[in-house]
Amino acid sequence: METSSSSIINSSLTGNTLFAISKEDVNLGIGAPDEVILSQGVELYRKACQHCFENPAQNNSWLQYGPARGSSHFLGLLASWLTLHYPSSGAAVRSEQLFLTSGATSGLSLTCTLFGLSNGGTVFMEDPVYFIAGSVFDDHRMVKVPVKTDGNGIDIGDLEAKFSSLPEQQQQQQQQPRKAGQYAALLYLVPTFHNPTGVVLSLEKRQRIVDLAFRHNVLVLCDDVYDLLGYSDDDPLPPRMFSLDQLRGHVISNGSFSKIFGPGVRLGWLEASPQVIERFAESGIAASGGSLNHLTSGAMSSMLSLGYLDQMLRLARETYGAKLKIALETLRREMPPGVTLNPPSGGFFIWIRLPEKVDAGQLLHTCKIEDKVGFQPGNWSSITGGFRHYIRISFSFYDAETLAWGITRIAHHLKRLL
Ligand SMILES: Cc1ncc(COP(=O)(O)O)c(C=O)c1O
Repeated sequence: METSSSSIINSSLTGNTLFAISKEDVNLGIGAPDEVILSQGVELYRKACQHCFENPAQNNSWLQYGPARGSSHFLGLLASWLTLHYPSSGAAVRSEQLFLTSGATSGLSLTCTLFGLSNGGTVFMEDPVYFIAGSVFDDHRMVKVPVKTDGNGIDIGDLEAKFSSLPEQQQQQQQQPRKAGQYAALLYLVPTFHNPTGVVLSLEKRQRIVDLAFRHNVLVLCDDVYDLLGYSDDDPLPPRMFSLDQLRGHVISNGSFSKIFGPGVRLGWLEASPQVIERFAESGIAASGGSLNHLTSGAMSSMLSLGYLDQMLRLARETYGAKLKIALETLRREMPPGVTLNPPSGGFFIWIRLPEKVDAGQLLHTCKIEDKVGFQPGNWSSITGGFRHYIRISFSFYDAETLAWGITRIAHHLKRLL
């Protein structure tokens, strides 16, 4: 989820959503889906539920404990749908390589639990990074090690140096098939439409990372939650890192319905090699409770088979693509000289570099006090406390007019600080 425990943007403990939003505040820090899209989603979901529960062969079983990996009906539909929609060519998604989760956050947490990486295990994280992933690793008492990035994502030289510093013995535990729990460390990545930078890792970098992970016995967890949200046909996306690993067991793809449908469903999937999937299926949580969100996967099966998820994806791409265009136009028009950015072509975020002397926290304070406008200062996405002259704005949540207004006000206050 996308909010922060900061006193500036309060996380709601009592309202109807995770974040507190007042009508007067425009908080461009919120990386949640567009409410108009969600209202269409509710209508389709209602019909999908009806379809699901009117099917006599299925309706009782959705209230039963579900199979540990998720129902085969759901996983089969999901595999076919992903094969069709993942933009880059690559191997087909196979249902036996999927494990149902209650969203990407749950996939991340379960991966830490199961692969012996908790309690002092090392996790390498890009700097900057999706900031709440760090809290999940904290839950598992993992040691977070930052890896440098350049304008094109993770710095391969720094990554190799960091991998090489792992204990020799752990790096050498390579065997086929690898037994679960024998990885030396975890690497957490958002390879496509990165949060917060919007960067798409090149094929060359992806290949190098996969090779390094194999050589140093590291498990790469790819948060692939924005892979289906590309808004331009000009630059085809490189293959997912999971397909580059070729089932050697060093890459997990972490997927979710949160951004393409609605985070309230708490439904997602892990895609991994058979031996890794087997370990997920044998976990205590799946063995005791069964499928992590069985009933919802019933409704989502109908969303898939009735073509409703296609409709939602089309709507999401159109809506977010249009808002991204407006946000970029406004930034180009309003921002003073010295402000730079790499325009993203997908995802939810724009990462903006301000002139070095500007402290983004101070800018935020002014924007909040004077205009009730918010955004995320760059250091919130940094585990080293860096990127203080960067800001992240999300174009997903507010309508185009409000988005443009918010950006204009941020630019106004920035000009006054210079
Ligand atoms: C990179 C990344 N991973 C995971 C999540 C959370 O996903 P989910 O709602 O599926 O737990 C987010 C949401 O902001 C995200 O940006």
